[in-house]
Amino acid sequence: MTKDKHSSKRQSDAPIFLIGFMGAGKTTVGRALARQLDYDFLDLDELIAKQVGKSVQEIFAELGEGNFRSLEREAIRSCEQLPRAVVALGGGAYEDENNRNVLRRIGQTVWLDCTLEVCLRRITGDKSRPLLGDKGAMSKLLEQRRTAYAEADFTVRTGERSPEQLAIEIANWLEN
Ligand code: S3P
Repeated sequence: MTKDKHSSKRQSDAPIFLIGFMGAGKTTVGRALARQLDYDFLDLDELIAKQVGKSVQEIFAELGEGNFRSLEREAIRSCEQLPRAVVALGGGAYEDENNRNVLRRIGQTVWLDCTLEVCLRRITGDKSRPLLGDKGAMSKLLEQRRTAYAEADFTVRTGERSPEQLAIEIANWLEN
């Protein structure tokens, strides 16, 4: 477990955002954390897909990544009104400096720091992830994003622990 420089604690009812690479477990751990805290759970990609009426894959293919990123920015801003919620963000959301500033202002961010090997084991062959490439491309993308991810309020090195164990670690940090 590591605590970062901010060491900030749960502000009353502010949303908690899970960030990290594709396959890091943001949705699974997010659901477990929401159960533990008795918070709502929201998957931001699901919200975007619902609003547009297309899957994330279709949005990338038909509207392009730039438009997906605009929708993502809007969806992030809409989280300001969300009390008592755990929100799983897409793997690229925290790369954007503007998103990082908004998220810092409206809630707490937690980076699920998961090895590339574990992420790839989970996502290889998954056709629903438009940015999924070969190991070299994924390694480059993760390295490109690592500095941004490291700006999160709290970092959890996931290892091989269960979603429930990771959720306990995050909940303990929030309460202390
Ligand atoms: C993306 C990750 C995806 C989704 C989109 C872009 C990324 O979410 O937002 O395909 O840029 O890493 P997951 O991290 O849940 O796979």
